[in-house]
Amino acid sequence: MFQINDNYQKLPGSYLFSTIGKKVAAFSEAHPDKSIIRLGIGDVTQPLAPAIIEAMHKAVDEMADAKTFRGYAPDLGYEFLRKAISDNDYKARGCDIEADEIFVSDGAKSDSGNIQEIFAQDNRIAVCDPVYPVYVDSNVMAGRTGTYDAATGMWSNVIYMPCTRENNFVPEFPKETPDMIYLCLPNNPTGTTITKAQLQEWVDYANKVGAVIIYDGAYEAYITEDNVAHSIYECEGAKTCAIELKSFSKNAGFTGVRLGYTVVPKELKCGDVSLHGMWARRHGTKFNGAPYIIQRAGEAVYSDAGKAQLKEQVAYYMKNAATIKSGLQEAGFEVYGGVNAPYIWLKTPEKMTSWEFFDYLLEKANVVGTPGSGFGPSGEGYFRLTAFGSYENTVAALERIKAL
Ligand code: MLT
Repeated sequence: MFQINDNYQKLPGSYLFSTIGKKVAAFSEAHPDKSIIRLGIGDVTQPLAPAIIEAMHKAVDEMADAKTFRGYAPDLGYEFLRKAISDNDYKARGCDIEADEIFVSDGAKSDSGNIQEIFAQDNRIAVCDPVYPVYVDSNVMAGRTGTYDAATGMWSNVIYMPCTRENNFVPEFPKETPDMIYLCLPNNPTGTTITKAQLQEWVDYANKVGAVIIYDGAYEAYITEDNVAHSIYECEGAKTCAIELKSFSKNAGFTGVRLGYTVVPKELKCGDVSLHGMWARRHGTKFNGAPYIIQRAGEAVYSDAGKAQLKEQVAYYMKNAATIKSGLQEAGFEVYGGVNAPYIWLKTPEKMTSWEFFDYLLEKANVVGTPGSGFGPSGEGYFRLTAFGSYENTVAALERIKAL
């Protein structure tokens, strides 16, 4: 008789955004007359920028001609895209990351779930709490997290680094030494971040204790403050301790298009073993490359026209963030984030739990957000709203919330 991977049985409930989707679908079915505004999942709403569409059309035409048709993409990504990434996201910022240290993928969600595969089963992970659920869930599936305590919402073999208003949402170095440290900055879900000097301390700490940092920079395009790093490789010594994950979803609206990349520097080693070689082996075995049309779309993100158009798109969402933040403050809420990230993190009123506030907001204002406790125990009593809606919906949602 075959056996299953029992670790899956340990996962409580369904994936956070699937649970929310089901709840909203049930409410919508029961109240077909209500117009629901969705500010829950961080999914973009604005169309792809013209420069990207143009590049996609051109690539589609190439696929229609035998002379320019492309089959399997190189499994690590086309050179034209890897070079554009290296030049624009790294060298232009003074980070010495070469094109062959970049692995193009179908998105940062897959990479953030898959990257743990190249590490030993008995590694101890440290996560910010609250945290993007994929980091913990993928380690649960791999059998790295121990047992789940439903009362505390914690796993026995995970080191939690609480990020709350008490510590200004800045993770503190854990008392126990971790092997793998997940950092998402600017942060999902709190919308807050840390300074480059604080990030340097994490890099120094990881190098000192021999830990690897899995650095998720999906929201980098939303940074507005000068003292915040756009890449962990801006910090000295990061190439010997950090892997960086990047997404095209949030900066270029690719949530439905799917494209991302992971940087594994050649200097990152465990003893004599290069993690770059391991990830290349894993990628080559399990992934057949992101589609040519999509990689050409990704290249257009770095064209002059693409850059200008995406600057406007990011500004559009950040206007929503400012609208949400000021609207909630006027309504008397305690609000965080929204300055370097498209997420607003608010304290739930009147000691409501995160899920109580979710239900309250859905029923009374027909607005969907994300309960903070879905991101970890320290998220209890908080709630996340996304700035990725349309401006009109954002304004309407805030009017409804203010009227409560
Ligand atoms: C979120 O809402 O946290 C994100 O959109 C989820 C994701 O990027 O996978």
